[in-house]
Amino acid sequence: MSGKPLLVTCGLPYTNGPCHLGHLRTYVPADFYVRYLRRCGEDVVFICGSDNHGTPIVISAEQEGATPRVLAERYHAHFDETFKRMEISFDHFGMTDDAANHRRAQSMVQALIDNGYVYSQTIQQSFCTKCNRFLPDRYVEGICPYCGASARGDECDRGCGRHLEPGEIKNPVCKVCGSPAEMREQEHFFFKLGEFKDFLLTYLDGLSGTSNARNYAIGWVKDELHDWCITRTLDWGVKFPGRNDLVVYVWVDAPIGYISFTEEWAAKTGNDWKCYWCGEGEVTHFIGSDIIYHHCIFWPALLHGAGYGTPHAVVASGMVKFEDQKFSKSRGYVVWTNDDYLDQGLPADYLRYYLLSYTSHTKELNFSWRIFQERVNSEIVNTLGNFFYRTLHFAHKFFGGVPPGQADPEVLSEIGRCLEGLDVSVREYEFKNAVDSMMALAAYGNTYIQNNAPWKLVKTDRAAAEQVIINCLQIARALALIIEPVMPDAAGRAWAMLGYADNVSAHRVDEALELVQSGPLPAPEPLFAKIEDDKVAELEKILEKRVSEARMKEMKAAEETSEISIDDFAAMDLRVARVVSAEAVKGSKKLLRIMVDLGDEQRQVVSGIATFYSPEELVGKSVVMIVNLKPAKIFGIESQGMILAAGDAASLLMPLRDVAPGTKIR
Ligand code: 2FM
Ligand code: ZN
Repeated sequence: MSGKPLLVTCGLPYTNGPCHLGHLRTYVPADFYVRYLRRCGEDVVFICGSDNHGTPIVISAEQEGATPRVLAERYHAHFDETFKRMEISFDHFGMTDDAANHRRAQSMVQALIDNGYVYSQTIQQSFCTKCNRFLPDRYVEGICPYCGASARGDECDRGCGRHLEPGEIKNPVCKVCGSPAEMREQEHFFFKLGEFKDFLLTYLDGLSGTSNARNYAIGWVKDELHDWCITRTLDWGVKFPGRNDLVVYVWVDAPIGYISFTEEWAAKTGNDWKCYWCGEGEVTHFIGSDIIYHHCIFWPALLHGAGYGTPHAVVASGMVKFEDQKFSKSRGYVVWTNDDYLDQGLPADYLRYYLLSYTSHTKELNFSWRIFQERVNSEIVNTLGNFFYRTLHFAHKFFGGVPPGQADPEVLSEIGRCLEGLDVSVREYEFKNAVDSMMALAAYGNTYIQNNAPWKLVKTDRAAAEQVIINCLQIARALALIIEPVMPDAAGRAWAMLGYADNVSAHRVDEALELVQSGPLPAPEPLFAKIEDDKVAELEKILEKRVSEARMKEMKAAEETSEISIDDFAAMDLRVARVVSAEAVKGSKKLLRIMVDLGDEQRQVVSGIATFYSPEELVGKSVVMIVNLKPAKIFGIESQGMILAAGDAASLLMPLRDVAPGTKIR
């Protein structure tokens, strides 16, 4: 550590849905990191808040008949409360729609304008004639222009993951009414991200944190750096300076929330926010790996362009899967923090432990209730809890507390080694290794008490038994101190059972090496309880039920859509295509690679009609083709549409009279 004041932040949750385990994959490790540094006496502030703007919140609010602010406040309160239940110890939790953030965002955008990093440009934007409005971001869905996957207006969430600029998406369809959108001109403002290439390469070279963040970002900067459109046609958001009809893109005012929340915290506590954002303090961002681009490229460029300092480190966590399935709210693969976990009577400590120790921070975490149960029962309950209880029970029963004396040097050395390993791992953001070091000390304690069997020794050599239990109590004291960042609740109870009246978090981790003092102890209680098989079956059932309900809903929707509207039909772009050339696909008996003329363009189609037609007989023929079908690779060849045919013998559909290639079929 540099010894400088440190500000730690977590990615801001959107206020359009409840907290789930995917969120906690970032917040719990960040909280662990902050608690640990506080326990080392470092000057660290922990800031977060809710991300209130953007189109998904407006759409959800519209569907509910509420205002976006009402929705934002409801979910803000939900996250605030859930984080407290999960013992996430933010010093401040703000809202991006609060006045401080409107002010800071407007002043930063004005600084970018003044510094020459913003320009205006008239662009083609999706417009829905039925809803009579422009369709920013999530208001529009279509096809990713880079990889052909179905995509949202601002990101290719199911394909290549790219950020999409307004107007980029192909075959845009209005998300609200389902009509195909048309393109209309509109003036927007762009941030000259492209000008920051050299700055970013130097910045990223020195960026601390996890290597996934730095490496991905360097790759992207070297590859391509497009200017970003930073305005949207919406009412909800921070107004672009001087324009009442435009707000800034949510990804502009959201990270600026990190600054305005620091300002709010500083005002509340009498500190100086500038220390972190324009001074000697450092900033470390904890984020999910899906938003590395925003934090390692867009955000530092924005800060630099507006004359602020840049973050010192970005720590990016891997994503979460549920029972081997990609996280998906719509398919039901999600575990809600309150409903499915805390409200089921499960302790925050167990989940914190599991999320931190299951796998390395940057790797994907595959959540499973069975594995969760196994880890909790064998590691927390059997190893840590057992050692603690056996030690305290024995000390209480035979000595009424901690006998006088000193722990042996080898026990203190073992604790010292644990502290060193722990410190190295935390500072390398290797949280799994850090927790493993703690558990190794608990395992050492267990082996030690088992091998020395003080319950036998006490019958023959009371003094020797006394020494054994002093050593065990020294280890137990160390464990109570070092597990606090992982399991704050259990650490507090353990500390009290060791006879201390104050709060464990008031002590530094290195006090683990201070000798345990003699004195009476209360009768101990088990620190942890096992998770029973019945409980796991119940929890699994909740997930299964949610998944099957989601499947039913999907099937029902498919049934409902079996009768299609004229708009659905209009969404299919059917055209007359003239075959220019055709050839057999090597290695396939059924496939032909066909080039067709569509009037203003030629396309390649792979069609399974080789057993019915020779390539020669097709050339020159006019056929019917669907041209806005999602491109697909067949035998490694991209097929950019589908030629229509009837029946098992694939009789091709052809126009009765001659029409020009590209003519639309209505
Ligand atoms: O991806 C998200 O969930 C965003 N709400 C994160 C914003 S983090 C920050 F930059 F504001
Ligand atoms: Zn894509």
